[in-house]
Amino acid sequence: MTRVAVLKETAGDERRVAQVPESVQKLIKLGLTVAVERGAGEAAGIDDAQFAKAGATIEPTAEATLAGAGVVLKVHRPSEEEVKQLPAGCLLVCFIQPSSAGPLLAQLAGAKVNAMAMEKVPRTTRAQSVDALSSQATVAGYKAVLLGASHCPRLFPMLTTAAGTLTPSKVFVLGAGVAGLQAIATAKRLGAVVSAFDVRPAVKEQVMSLGAKFVEVEGVGKEAEAAGGYAAQLAEDQQRRVLEAVGRQLPDMDVVVTTAQIPGKAAPRLITAKMVETMKRGAVIVDLAAETGGNCELTKAGQTIDVNGVTVIGPTNLAATVPLHASMMYARNLLTLLTLLVKDGAPRLDLTDDIVKAMLVTHDGAVRS
Ligand code: NAI
Repeated sequence: MTRVAVLKETAGDERRVAQVPESVQKLIKLGLTVAVERGAGEAAGIDDAQFAKAGATIEPTAEATLAGAGVVLKVHRPSEEEVKQLPAGCLLVCFIQPSSAGPLLAQLAGAKVNAMAMEKVPRTTRAQSVDALSSQATVAGYKAVLLGASHCPRLFPMLTTAAGTLTPSKVFVLGAGVAGLQAIATAKRLGAVVSAFDVRPAVKEQVMSLGAKFVEVEGVGKEAEAAGGYAAQLAEDQQRRVLEAVGRQLPDMDVVVTTAQIPGKAAPRLITAKMVETMKRGAVIVDLAAETGGNCELTKAGQTIDVNGVTVIGPTNLAATVPLHASMMYARNLLTLLTLLVKDGAPRLDLTDDIVKAMLVTHDGAVRS
């Protein structure tokens, strides 16, 4: 029987874990055995006893967890030191960030590890329940609004009380993909007046169906949509129009959540330092694109700064700050993938399958391009 190893995450602020007891039970039903490193779920609020009750064996170290493993599940890519511990021939599934992995891919290939990158899941209907970028972006979009609300000097909802009437806060969401749509929905639930902008015109209807206003920019149309439902980079003239349109909204806003990304490129710049100068004192920008350079010129990744009374928050790894639900969703993504791969108690890599083909970054000792 193939053994699945679930390791404790070692990256600094990581609190998620790649499996939860419920998904472990289902892996066992697939005919696999599961070994969990001691304390792997602790930071997410899951203790070893819960994993043991679900049928996993608890191992005292990473080395013991990995002994004889055919599948290794993680959230983050392993460090170069950790790769040395991986059993030859195993299947590793985690976020690998292939474009910034440097020599790690060659090292994985050299160690005969078949690695599948969770950020490479194709955006097809069949692959939807494997899509961890979406599941984790959902969590990040929700949490971004809570961060914004907690730094905002105002309440979000309109309140009519004996102590007076309060007008609702205004929230502006830039980029209405998975994270952005969740941010819109969360801000609406909290009672804010929400508007949003995205370069892909297809998004307008989704924004409006959540009860938010869509900010139109003339001259930005279908060409802003690239393959796979992602955005394309804008021409200079279009970029100028976008900045002008965004700039017109900002002075009125209490919280701005930015989520705009272009796959494989630096985040598009949507808020300049000059535009921040036009914002109200007490306004908050939560920049979910901080890790890829930020949608706001002033964003500092991993920091919260004050710029003349405007708070600019550049969170990284926001999903890890809601570790239990983020882990549950990620675990489900991995379980769905393994359900597709496992035949007769072992994973089979069918290179003609479009999900396998897209996700597999190293195979049989070679790096795949
Ligand atoms: P993402 O994280 O790459 O980008 C976030 C948003 O930023 C996108 O909506 C994009 O259009 C927008 N954006 C890019 N440049 C911008 C600019 N200059 N100004 C304003 N907005 C800008 O995208 P995400 O959220 O991962 O997914 C994007 C879309 O992909 C989804 O809305 C959906 O249509 C599609 N999708 C399909 C899936 C499937 O079929 N399995 C799963 C997930 C997403």
